[in-house]
Amino acid sequence: MAVVGLQWGDEGKGKIVDHLAEGFDAVVRYNGGANAGHSVVIGGKRFALHLIPAGILSPGKLAVIGNGVVIDPGALIREIDGLASSGVDVSGLVISDRAHVVMPYHQAEDGLREDILKRAAEDEEFGDSSAVSHIGTTRRGIGPCYAEKVQRSSAVRIGDLLNIEVLTAKVELACRLKRAGLAESGCSLDPAALVAAASEQGLRLAPMIRDTTYLLNDLVSSGKGVLFEGANGSLLDVDHGTYPFVTGSSCTSAGVAPGTGVPACSIGPVLGIVKAYSTRVGAGPLPTELHDATGDGIRDRGREFGTTTGRPRRVGWLDLVAVKYACMVNGASGIAVTLLDVLSGIRTLRVCVGYELDGASTERFPADGLSLGRVRPVYKDMDGFDQDIAGCRSLQSLPRQAREYLDLVAAYTGVPISMVSVGPGREQTITADRS
Ligand code: GDP
Ligand code: IMO
Ligand code: MG
Repeated sequence: MAVVGLQWGDEGKGKIVDHLAEGFDAVVRYNGGANAGHSVVIGGKRFALHLIPAGILSPGKLAVIGNGVVIDPGALIREIDGLASSGVDVSGLVISDRAHVVMPYHQAEDGLREDILKRAAEDEEFGDSSAVSHIGTTRRGIGPCYAEKVQRSSAVRIGDLLNIEVLTAKVELACRLKRAGLAESGCSLDPAALVAAASEQGLRLAPMIRDTTYLLNDLVSSGKGVLFEGANGSLLDVDHGTYPFVTGSSCTSAGVAPGTGVPACSIGPVLGIVKAYSTRVGAGPLPTELHDATGDGIRDRGREFGTTTGRPRRVGWLDLVAVKYACMVNGASGIAVTLLDVLSGIRTLRVCVGYELDGASTERFPADGLSLGRVRPVYKDMDGFDQDIAGCRSLQSLPRQAREYLDLVAAYTGVPISMVSVGPGREQTITADRS
């Protein structure tokens, strides 16, 4: 099974993966890097995961970082140590030898590009072209690392950290290639220092580094359950998202096969996670964005501040045009609606069921972020609910208006609701067959 976000990230993937992990033998990340932030609350204790799959919180499960993930080894070591010091058993962690390494110069390049883009957006030369904008990245080096992976020769893979000759050659090459471009950033491009730090990190991670492609295919062929954990969100997918306001990886279910080496035919059902409203972090269009007290209230009740950067998340009404498109691209066979409890107390809930774009009505999601920036949402208004639903454990116990809201999501997308989350806690979850 794969769990993917159907919006712009932070849909509650971590919570749902944690809830499902019990039924699987391995939980596998296949994309993204430390740009992700997955919060899981167990017994009132909150864990923030960035690179490590949420399965690490379920004792006895394998937690695999697949080849499609880009890894900052320093951030990974800090995450491992942080979990271990909170009493989490991290012995199930396995890291693909094929995963790419985010080097300090990738982070410098990410920051420098963002700064240059910001300045360019203010530059008269570009007029008021909306094509020139910073992306609002997490500055974790994600885009430059994936770019280097595609450029190949100078890219460092996790396995290279354990081979000093290869590591030295690649880092020296990378420094030579980047010296001119990064002069402005002040980033140190001293190959010897970079190699020393990277190989020390490699030695620390060495016991966990494996050929995860064989490991995972062996699990699948012996009938074990493997749960694939998406990072970021479908609308941040580098191909299918609101380009160029996207991340550097394939966040949809289509990313599972290249990001793990498990063939698409073995992935199983796709569960799409939909937050009951929309959020977005960073730049780029959010057609249903709220700039009022309703939006502020949702942000406060939903604790909508980034797990990774702490940035306040932009908030808007649920956008079913976007969600239906994401269902299609992912092949979602079920939907988990999360954070439904956050909508309690809003008298009228607005749901976007169409767009007006350049004078025409459409229910299709535009091909790029610039077109999406021009749409005007068409809303259906729904009655809200007042009750606190955090204690509800069945669909029947939800207020009628909440059930009607869920029915609209299922009817519009054509995908059944298989789970509903009414709070951050592991137990605050309704599965449709328990309703
Ligand atoms: P992810 O990146 O998709 O894993 O999502 P994040 O963890 O970044 O953001 C989701 C936030 O919502 C986290 O703080 C979760 O603890 C919280 N959360 C998840 N599900 C629910 C829910 O049903 N209700 C409430 N109130 N919070 C939830
Ligand atoms: P999770 O897994 C929300 C956003 C960034 C920025 C854009 C590109 O927690 O859902 P990047 O650093 O990836 O190059 O930034 O993508 N972004 C996310 N937004 N949740 C995430 O992950 C995100 N990962 C990237 O804010 O707009
Ligand atoms: Mg998140």
